[in-house]
Amino acid sequence: MRSLRRIAVGVLSCASALGVAGCRGVQPMLAPGGPQAQSIARLGWFILITFSIVTVVMWVLIFWVAARRRGTLEEHAPYDAPADKRWIVFGGFFVPTVVLCTIFVLTLNTMRKFPMGDHEQHAGPPMITITGHQWWWEIEYHFGDTVSEHVVDANELHLPTGQPIDIRLQTRDVIHSFWVPRLHGKVDLVPGFENRIRVQVDQPGLYRGECGEYCGPQHAHMILLVDAQPPQAFQAWLAGARKPAAAPTDPVAAHGKDVFMTNACVLCHSIRGTDAHGLVGPDLTHVGSRKAIAANSYPNSRGYLEAWVTHAQSMKPDAQMPNVTAFTGDDLRALVTYLEGLK
Ligand code: CUA
Repeated sequence: MRSLRRIAVGVLSCASALGVAGCRGVQPMLAPGGPQAQSIARLGWFILITFSIVTVVMWVLIFWVAARRRGTLEEHAPYDAPADKRWIVFGGFFVPTVVLCTIFVLTLNTMRKFPMGDHEQHAGPPMITITGHQWWWEIEYHFGDTVSEHVVDANELHLPTGQPIDIRLQTRDVIHSFWVPRLHGKVDLVPGFENRIRVQVDQPGLYRGECGEYCGPQHAHMILLVDAQPPQAFQAWLAGARKPAAAPTDPVAAHGKDVFMTNACVLCHSIRGTDAHGLVGPDLTHVGSRKAIAANSYPNSRGYLEAWVTHAQSMKPDAQMPNVTAFTGDDLRALVTYLEGLK
């Protein structure tokens, strides 16, 4: 009996360790940052605990049967004793039906709290539009009365805390999926279709998300950072983001700007306040203030920026950013100085 208990404790410990390992890390599902994620976490805990209990009971029964085994199979046949049938009806049908139906009803109830789709309750226009690209996130903020107050940015989603934000999800190419586990469940970005979600963040801080739907070779390098700030700090950030890029005063950065404007960069990227109006790649108006580059795959530092400009295909193969090996020496240093200064 003691060895049976030891085995049960071992099984339970392993199951809990595995469960906890999947729920911690950089984007834990069971550490909600707002009401939407909270209802998912509640359901997650219920399922985790229920299945842990079912698993433990099942293993205890298996070991119990193994421990009390007597005689051979032939000696026990046929299995038609009423006690055997009760086990089968109760353990094989009744219990699973109750457990699965309960989870089904609770899941439907949780889903009811997430108004989605393009057909329904969202009467007003979205406050933010997120557009998926292979392999980065375009983010447009619609705050303000006029279009000139709208801001286009990339890969970092800034949100004010303590208020529901209506977000429109769409894609420019293939299916992607918005997934920031601490804030909301997965919602797909589908070609030719708009999805709407409502997100609220209660605690200021950084929340990491990833594209949750395989979308090509660089799917794993499509990371989204959510920066949640108190409303006043968010408004201050928005005011800064609305400003066009300041003209560089430093001669090196000014040379870098010339390099940017007279080469292929302008065909794909926009920098507000300049002649760069490309729409293929991320807007670079305030690229210097971003925490990371290449859809949050590499730190936003001088070394990585130089490497990205000249060897993007080694860092993120198949991305649309080409290797611009023509940039070397002073030109490359000046270009990166200019980009770093775009705060
Ligand atoms: Cu976008 Cu996976």
